[in-house]
Amino acid sequence: MEHYFATVARGLEGIAAQELQHLGAQDVRTDFTGVHFSGDRALLYRVNLWARTIFRVLVPIREFACRDADELYREVQNISWDTYLSPHHTLAVDCTGGGNQVLNHTHFTALQVKNAIVDQQRLSQGHRSDVDINDPDLRVNVHIYRERCVLSLDSSGTSLHRRGYRQAMGVAPLKETLAAALLELAGWNPELPFLDPLCGSGTLPLEAALKALDIAPGLFRLKFGFESWPDFDEPLWQSLRDEAEARCKESLPAPISGADHDPEVLDHARTNAARCGVAHLVRFDVTELIQLEAPDGPGILICNPPYGERLGETKTLIELYRTLGDVFKQRFKGWTAFVLTGNKELAKNIGLKAARRIPVYNGSLACTLLRYELY
Ligand SMILES: C[S@@+](CC[C@H](N)C(=O)[O-])C[C@H]1O[C@@H](n2cnc3c(N)ncnc32)[C@H](O)[C@@H]1O
Repeated sequence: MEHYFATVARGLEGIAAQELQHLGAQDVRTDFTGVHFSGDRALLYRVNLWARTIFRVLVPIREFACRDADELYREVQNISWDTYLSPHHTLAVDCTGGGNQVLNHTHFTALQVKNAIVDQQRLSQGHRSDVDINDPDLRVNVHIYRERCVLSLDSSGTSLHRRGYRQAMGVAPLKETLAAALLELAGWNPELPFLDPLCGSGTLPLEAALKALDIAPGLFRLKFGFESWPDFDEPLWQSLRDEAEARCKESLPAPISGADHDPEVLDHARTNAARCGVAHLVRFDVTELIQLEAPDGPGILICNPPYGERLGETKTLIELYRTLGDVFKQRFKGWTAFVLTGNKELAKNIGLKAARRIPVYNGSLACTLLRYELY
């Protein structure tokens, strides 16, 4: 059994913990922007392939007290890096955490760790790894909080929200991981019709479709970090992928759709739907919100209207939020609607009483997911 740490967006720790448990993780424990868990190598691969709500799975290899740069350098050199990395493989070091009084520049801290690793390689093997920050063979994570440092290997490589199916996007797309988490927070299940009336590039309907069709979100990715590790178990990975391919369903139990008034952004949504093989199943309509009709329900509606960070937009946005409330009241009886917003003042214009307010972070922006029961 190995100890793992899944990194997640702030506020989504509980949802991610549930998902990990469901995937078979043991000893699941939430932390700030992360979830600890344990399991075997198959679980590590399975979580990377299947988890919808987490960013990365880190594999901690050493934890130590660390007060300054010299101590950090020494501790990193105490690790035998040839177990993980040979000089002809490339390397990148990411630094996270709040640091401490001395080590408070993530870039400097990452550089110190990189130097300790490549200096060891040069001394013992005569050659060193090149740095490749975009697509390294080994990505190391150094997390410093106060006087503790945790060094981990990043098994995901690039963040898992990069599913690989989305090339085209609108102006303010949701991260796929957040979209998947919103579906969970909303209590949506594939038996219920789903609609996003302001769907942009389609992230919410597409994540809903992947879940409903039991399609592993990792199937579209070209690469995971662990695939270039020396201990990579290719037959195991292939068997997990084969199992995932075999699980994909061919039809949706209930309709999933998206609408938006911008035809260009809906073209992106359709392209993305085609890239994940669900274009024939998910409906996207060019519709001005005020003209929107409810599909057969009851169902779940989730949307994230613009928040209006730019000046001069407020008036149009007040109108948009009012229309949203009117459309909910008049045409969506029996549905449950969720609005993700980063602007409480604007949200008041919906003019309905929220049954629940769930705090959620969209990137660094503190937002609220408002729940409306439309009787
Ligand atoms: C913040 S974006 C949604 C992003 C989307 N969730 C995604 O992941 O790509 C808001 C969307 O609302 C659409 N929109 C704004 N006003 C609208 C209206 N009156 N009727 C229909 N769509 C509207 C915009 O075109 C934009 O795509």
